[in-house]
Amino acid sequence: MTDKKTRTATLTFDDTSVELPMYSPTAGPDVIDIRKLYSQGGVFTYDPGFTSTASCDSTITFIDGGKGELLHRGYPIDQLAENSHYLEVCYLLLYGELPSTTQLEEFESLVTHHTMLHEQMINFFRGFRRDAHPMAIMVGVVGAMSAFYHDSTDINDPHQREVATIRLIAKMPTIAAMAYKYTVGQPFVYPRNDLDYASNFLRMCFAVPAEDYEVNPILSRAMDRIFTLHADHEQNASTSTVRLASSSGANPFACIAAGIACLWGPAHGGANQACLEMLNEIGTVDRIPEFIARAKDKNDPFRLMGFGHRVYKNFDPRAKVMKQSADEVLDLLGVENNPILQVAKELEKAALADPYFAEKKLFPNVDFYSGIILEAMGFPTSMFTPIFALARTVGWISQWKEQISDPALKIGRPRQLYQGETKRNYTDIETRS
Ligand code: SDX
Repeated sequence: MTDKKTRTATLTFDDTSVELPMYSPTAGPDVIDIRKLYSQGGVFTYDPGFTSTASCDSTITFIDGGKGELLHRGYPIDQLAENSHYLEVCYLLLYGELPSTTQLEEFESLVTHHTMLHEQMINFFRGFRRDAHPMAIMVGVVGAMSAFYHDSTDINDPHQREVATIRLIAKMPTIAAMAYKYTVGQPFVYPRNDLDYASNFLRMCFAVPAEDYEVNPILSRAMDRIFTLHADHEQNASTSTVRLASSSGANPFACIAAGIACLWGPAHGGANQACLEMLNEIGTVDRIPEFIARAKDKNDPFRLMGFGHRVYKNFDPRAKVMKQSADEVLDLLGVENNPILQVAKELEKAALADPYFAEKKLFPNVDFYSGIILEAMGFPTSMFTPIFALARTVGWISQWKEQISDPALKIGRPRQLYQGETKRNYTDIETRS
């Protein structure tokens, strides 16, 4: 925990005055440390949705919402997407620095040689209905890892934390691919150690025993870039879920399963599936005004999926890279004039020209274009969020490791603004009206 007090804030109310230390970060807003507020001032702060609350200090990822900037250990996401690859970004997020050639080779070899799932875990898939959502399967199977890998659950043992880290990053593509294969009724395809991370995932999803499968390098590069763009994003809802679950000392695999469950929501990682379903519902450019009007109508719960963000108020740098990638991938795949991509581009143009979206600072986020690429790659919409969860696993794990190794870690236990009944006595049923 930081202790670099830069100055003091004084909170005065009624006849109370509380002095609160303030800290200055290396980037972003200063913070007021309110940990002593209740003991010294007898009041809570109130911030449902945590719009103005820093839940922790971290050195992993920084977002400047005003500039549309995303840094992983200081490196801008557009530079990493262009020049790096997912496993190198994993190394950077986990260990804080870009790896040397030897370090990268050792890390990639470790991950490659842990991609197989315990064979008995395959039984878990068979317990699901064939029409189960792959996210439901991932929550269940990742949670079940806590019952299989007992030699990597002692969170107080740095070696076991490292083993759990490698196992999760290595096995998530295998689990996601198996979830997909199960829902389409095809046999599971085992990972291959001669393939890179993204190529392995594509092959496990799309290969069938009846014929050879050659990974298309264009798709593999696009898949790896999508993984990189989703790797980490500071204290978003699912990462905060993982941090809160792990603050009790819970099993690391169970904590990641909790993160997957949170990510599934349409306001968060589930937006990529919801966005493509929305674009398909719009269908043609001439229907865009109708949906823009609905998004602006306070009486209509409809929102433009893939639009808006709690932190980005200028643009989401990941969306910019994703949009470029969508153009490239569809062009290279020969998907001429994809009507849905045209609808997405016209929708973005119409929304950004509309005062409502400009005033509320609503821009395309990471989920707006990702589904278009994933659909062109052959994935059903139900696999969009599992791919997000696969890629975000390294972010959850990096943040989990940072929190677990903090000697000042305390269990997360928020308070409340209670609005219920005050104390009253029980009444017998005969006397009730
Ligand atoms: C992700 O936190 C992260 O970093 C998440 C993420 C990550 O990498 O982990 O970036 C991934 O989850 C991206 C977001 C994906 N979700 C969506 O695309 C769903 C659609 N977007 C929204 O539901 C919304 O924009 C959120 C959830 C993303 C952000 O919600 P906030 O910050 O709580 O904002 P809000 O709901 O208070 O909205 C502010 C105003 C409201 O109008 P008023 O009540 O002030 O009049 O903007 C409006 C909202 O009605 N608004 C929208 C809108 N999003 C917000 N109106 C129309 N369409 C939208 N998409």
